[in-house]
Amino acid sequence: MNPTEELLKEHVIIRRIRNITQKCSDVLYNNIDVPFEDIEIITVVINEFIDNFHNFKEEKSYFPVTKDKNENAEDIRKFLIEHELGRRIANMLLKEVNKWKNGVNAREPIARFLKSYSVYISDHTGKEDKFFNKILYNNELLVVENKILVEEFIKCSKSVGGQERIKTMLGLIDYLEKLEWMNIKTN
Ligand SMILES: [Fe+2]
Ligand SMILES: [Fe+2]
Repeated sequence: MNPTEELLKEHVIIRRIRNITQKCSDVLYNNIDVPFEDIEIITVVINEFIDNFHNFKEEKSYFPVTKDKNENAEDIRKFLIEHELGRRIANMLLKEVNKWKNGVNAREPIARFLKSYSVYISDHTGKEDKFFNKILYNNELLVVENKILVEEFIKCSKSVGGQERIKTMLGLIDYLEKLEWMNIKTN
């Protein structure tokens, strides 16, 4: 698959994770309980699929190849700052989840960071979608560069445990979407 299209396709999966974090936040704000394990699964999916897999591909392979073309550097600089912001929110969320594990009532901060994370994903993937579509539209990547990126992406996927682990992540996203609290009406 074309590497730019591959990243765009991953954004569709990332937005499914966004819907889960948003719903989980709404449910917690509505004082409905969410099993602790489910929130832990959300943090695993954020960390492994979004950060270690998708963002890693962008940071280590895709952005370095596209950065020197057509004034892309400024957009990429902003994307990297946003990745940092996302990481910071995910870390704060994880801290609160660990507090909750140790018996502290962390419902409010967990709900708040889940919501912040969902806003971050909407904003960030929206901007990157425009950027990737511009690259596709203008044919900015040479055939040889696309080839290199395909190989690099395979390496990135191996470094997070290969296709098997990614399949597991997708399975966890399916699992979360089917949970009862995901389908409760909230205001
Ligand atoms: Fe990104
Ligand atoms: Fe992305």
